Amino acid sequence: MHTVIAIDGPAASGKSSVARLLARKLGFLYVNSGAMYRAVTWLATSRGIAATDIGRVLGLLDVTRFECGTVANQSTILVDGVDPDPHLTEPAVNANVSAISAIPEVRRLLVEKQRLFAEAHDLVMEGRDIGSVVFPDTPYKFYVDASPEVRAARRAKQGLTDAIGERDKVDTTRRTSPLVIAEDAHVIESSHLTIDGVVGEIIGRLKLKGLALREGV
Ligand code: CDP
Repeated sequence: MHTVIAIDGPAASGKSSVARLLARKLGFLYVNSGAMYRAVTWLATSRGIAATDIGRVLGLLDVTRFECGTVANQSTILVDGVDPDPHLTEPAVNANVSAISAIPEVRRLLVEKQRLFAEAHDLVMEGRDIGSVVFPDTPYKFYVDASPEVRAARRAKQGLTDAIGERDKVDTTRRTSPLVIAEDAHVIESSHLTIDGVVGEIIGRLKLKGLALREGV
């Protein structure tokens, strides 16, 4: 088992930018678990399958090949050989990803794949349940938060249509692996911090915990 740094938090809290930069600084693999849930959602919506039609979503999972890999220190996922990346922030995906992610079978499939990454790599993984469910034993857990206003402004600046309040509601109230602050997570309120500031705080904390980092970090 390699070193796992878990970064969880609500929508648009800045965790993707933080996790990507942190991974680059440490020389670790960056894994965006949200992209995996988005890939399944894109598959369903592009086939005209409603997120509420659980039977048909499960049928799709049965007949689809999801292949995870890595390119340039980042995780990748192919859906029947197709890279879904250009579609992952489309409005239809944003609107349906929380409902798809609440389906236990979807989570089971993806969590299994997420855990496999740690068999071969030291990694930074971001998501909603990474510290609480996917890697509960890692001592390196962070929860990156920001005020709803700041998060809405960050998403709008990206030019994306995304009802983040709605997603947060579904993500925190679902029965399977809801978004929670893991008991032993270090919480960072990032409303008034830069990406560098958050990454600096995480690195400081990792050093305090005795994690050996590569020279110069
Ligand atoms: O970038 P943003 O934080 O808005 O979203 P994301 O990390 O790409 O995640 C998209 C959606 O996937 C979330 O709203 C959750 O519904 C779901 N998700 C999840 O359930 N568990 C994870 N570990 C990661 C994402």
